[in-house]
Amino acid sequence: MSKNYNMSTYSFTQKDAPLFENFLHYSRKGMAAFHTPGHRGGRGCEDLFRSLGGEFLRLDLTELKGANLDQDPDFLIKKAEELAAEAFGAKQSYFLVNGASIGIMAALLALKGLGKEILIARNCHLSVINGLILSGLKPVFISPTWVEGLPCLPSLAVVTNALKDYPDAAGVFLTNPGYHGIYGPLGEIAKLCKAKKVPLLLDEAHGGYLKYINNRIEEASTVDADLWVWGTHKMMGSLTQTGMLHLGSGFQNREKLEDALELLSSTSPSYLLLASLDSARRQLYLNGRAMFTRAAELSEIVRQEIINLPGLKLIENCYLPTGYGVDPTKIILSLAPVGWSGIKVEEILRQKYLIQPEYADRDYVYIFVSYAQERKEVCSLIQALTNFATTAGPDCDRGRIHPPPWNRQPLQLSPSEAVNKPVTYLNLQEVTGKIAAGWVAAYPPGIPLWVPGEQISSAMVEWLISFQRQGGYIRGLKKNQVKVIQ
Ligand SMILES: Cc1ncc(COP(=O)(O)O)c(C=O)c1O
Repeated sequence: MSKNYNMSTYSFTQKDAPLFENFLHYSRKGMAAFHTPGHRGGRGCEDLFRSLGGEFLRLDLTELKGANLDQDPDFLIKKAEELAAEAFGAKQSYFLVNGASIGIMAALLALKGLGKEILIARNCHLSVINGLILSGLKPVFISPTWVEGLPCLPSLAVVTNALKDYPDAAGVFLTNPGYHGIYGPLGEIAKLCKAKKVPLLLDEAHGGYLKYINNRIEEASTVDADLWVWGTHKMMGSLTQTGMLHLGSGFQNREKLEDALELLSSTSPSYLLLASLDSARRQLYLNGRAMFTRAAELSEIVRQEIINLPGLKLIENCYLPTGYGVDPTKIILSLAPVGWSGIKVEEILRQKYLIQPEYADRDYVYIFVSYAQERKEVCSLIQALTNFATTAGPDCDRGRIHPPPWNRQPLQLSPSEAVNKPVTYLNLQEVTGKIAAGWVAAYPPGIPLWVPGEQISSAMVEWLISFQRQGGYIRGLKKNQVKVIQ
């Protein structure tokens, strides 16, 4: 049902979704439209597209005074963001319509000027490198904790040492949980950063909901990080490309951050996407615990059914160091004990059983269970894995862990310096020893194998070639050539 808010009598609560509901109300008024977008509520879209879009297309509106309670174009966005901040324990929240990526890039731009170096856990997403290119900050990479070949949150000791070496760092930027679905102990790191007065920034694109499942799991909001970014579209129920950026109580550079968001954002944000964030916030506030408890329970059913299958290995909490854990909604499994690569298992699940996992690499298949999952889908997954594990027999690619051979040496140049040098493109076989002028990443998870300004090693080239040979997808190459400094 759409609602017509009357600003003089109405103050918004968490039961409202002011942006979503007001735009829905407006779209149903039947106004004669003489403004962008030109498709006129979907009437002008191509036939098939229109027939699929239905009423949804009427919500594809822009900054219209009439649809904004006669207020400024961003009035309702601000109101919706205020409700999000209150709902998610932030001092301030911003809606993002270009993915978590734009929030990460804006965060790094906002730190520009606070210091030259920034401490970054090496298992960062490529948007972090793009943020470094834009901001000119120089990364000092710190080692993640490795668990069964998977990079996770760095240990407190690693962050402590890095801060000893770089006490004036512009910030500490960590990814937690990782794309793979493992979270780590954030609390002590957050305390350390506060004590050292160095901002803690978190890429929480794959988290934000863990506290609904178990409130002892530490997340950015519960440890009062300075800034954190959500990929709300990933598992929290908003539409693809939406995210949120949240500020904790200690963040100092709010104006710079807002300038950076302005710089990177479209001047015509999609209200359809914004409305989906507003309604996702309401749903999470009112039902988050039930939603994610359900997802965790369904995931646990799968785990219990497959844990004893022959040749199948599940990453469980018992393999992890204290304080680390597997996101209860995610299943990280491997058939490497019988020689199957994750990429091959994923292909068979997809082609033979019509089951699409989130992704796979050489070692693991990653299955993300949602609160919106149907039970019959869960049963099909159990059935497929059981059939597969009991009939597949060993494969030739004997299982072993293939962690990417990241460089341990400091960068030769900062990413922004490197991309501004004259460049050339070379074949993979020719780039060992060269300085990269762009990043290259296995996608997913989008963690760069090398970054601009880094010397490319022969181990990296071998890893990449063998990953491609096994069917993995690499981003950052042009016609399989590599951009390097001349
Ligand atoms: C850890 C991590 N951070 C950031 C991002 C970027 O998110 P988005 O695709 O919403 O821009 C991703 C995307 O997969 C990611 O895995």
